[in-house]
Amino acid sequence: MRAWWCLSVVACGGAGSQQEPTWSGEIAPLLADRCGACHVEGGPTPFSVTSYEEALPWAEAIVDATQEGRMPPFFATSSDECDMQLGFLDDIRLSTSERQLLADWVEAGSPEGSRSSAAPAPLRTPDHLADPDRILSLPQPYEVSGQQDEYRCFRIELDNTEDRWITGLEVLPDNDAVVHHVLVWNDPGDRSAERVGPDGSYACSGQPDVWPTELVAAWTPGGSPTRAPVGAGTLFHPGASLVINVHYHPTGTSTELDQSRIALTWTDQQPAQHTTWYLVDLPFGAVSTDGLFEIPAGSEAHTETVALEVPTYIPWDLPVFAITPHMHYLGTEMLVTLRSPAGGEECLIHTPNYRFDFQTSYTYDPTSGPLPVVHPGDTIEVRCTYNNSESNPFLGLQLDASGTSSPQDIRWGEETGDEMCMAMVGLIIPPIDWMELAESLF
Ligand code: HEC
Repeated sequence: MRAWWCLSVVACGGAGSQQEPTWSGEIAPLLADRCGACHVEGGPTPFSVTSYEEALPWAEAIVDATQEGRMPPFFATSSDECDMQLGFLDDIRLSTSERQLLADWVEAGSPEGSRSSAAPAPLRTPDHLADPDRILSLPQPYEVSGQQDEYRCFRIELDNTEDRWITGLEVLPDNDAVVHHVLVWNDPGDRSAERVGPDGSYACSGQPDVWPTELVAAWTPGGSPTRAPVGAGTLFHPGASLVINVHYHPTGTSTELDQSRIALTWTDQQPAQHTTWYLVDLPFGAVSTDGLFEIPAGSEAHTETVALEVPTYIPWDLPVFAITPHMHYLGTEMLVTLRSPAGGEECLIHTPNYRFDFQTSYTYDPTSGPLPVVHPGDTIEVRCTYNNSESNPFLGLQLDASGTSSPQDIRWGEETGDEMCMAMVGLIIPPIDWMELAESLF
């Protein structure tokens, strides 16, 4: 097969037949596919990849950002510390040769090539849940003002008269100036009904503060919809409710309204398996292995590790289908490792270029190999790296959030200006009423 572009003059058969990569030839289709979900006109980005004129001034920045792994913002990778055999769904990473192709294009003077031969490159569309069965909004607009971060829980009733299984859920944040993250919880006993005020909401912690409960989906900035693996879902009884737990971070200067929505898909056919999300971090049963969790002021690459031992009374092996790393503005890297009591170790994820505003949920591609399996007695270890110094480009946001003007020692906490070291782990469980069992266990 003829090489679709030439790596070097020699490979192309001599100077006479040199073929440089061109915008119309190779670059536009590549960027449309890997960058086009965000880099479009009117998008949240500084330039669009839909026209040569728009992209040209950014050509060198494109090379830098791709070489340094900042873009595209899909940070899971194999590394010296993480031998990642499994692939991921919706993987938009560039291969080494694709990154080189961009560099060669810029090296050649970023030529446009023949405009007439260029068919418009198909843009990758932003990832949304297709054909949702329900779109539900917070009961009424919620007012966010003042200086303090706030966790607010909203109860949402559903109209199913028989058991249903939620297979997909997308959080559609309304006012992203104040919505920091959203967790959607199942409340099978509808205990939240006793908590809500007339506006359908109540003050809560980072959790719904009702029991039993389980996490169904999470949204963090840059996040994508939560989808259960094929043939799995979260059991949702009639009369149960969903609790939408929103972490609001006020702007500090204005009063904002938010009425975020959720879209969901569900089925009335009992799936072969159920899914649930487990939060691995300090308040959720994990312990800090380094003693005090404290990120010293001025440290550029400080690590903290939290570890959760999976209780031996859990009677099943639990395949992992997805992982979402979560830290705040100081977080730069996360490594999640599964350890067995016999000394076995398996890397679940490594995200070296982590940043707060692109908190992707990484879903394993089940066709690329067997999913990792958590056994009772195993430990899930989460190592987080933080940059609490002036060299962190997001330090300003952290200082604003914590109301200080220079780096301070930072502890674990629920405020945006504090830090977390949380892996949200998507697990496949047997098709049983897990919530009923959980209630009897605890
Ligand atoms: C999920 C959305 C998303 C995708 C996909 C994406 N970008 Fe971006 N990109 C952004 C946003 C948002 C910004 C502005 C915020 C910032 O500066 O980081 C940005 C900024 C940039 C910048 C300027 C800032 C910097 O880091 O240099 C470059 C260059 C860039 N993107 C290149 C790319 C390229 C090339 C691709 C595809 C290979 C890509 N991006 C894919 C969202 C995206």
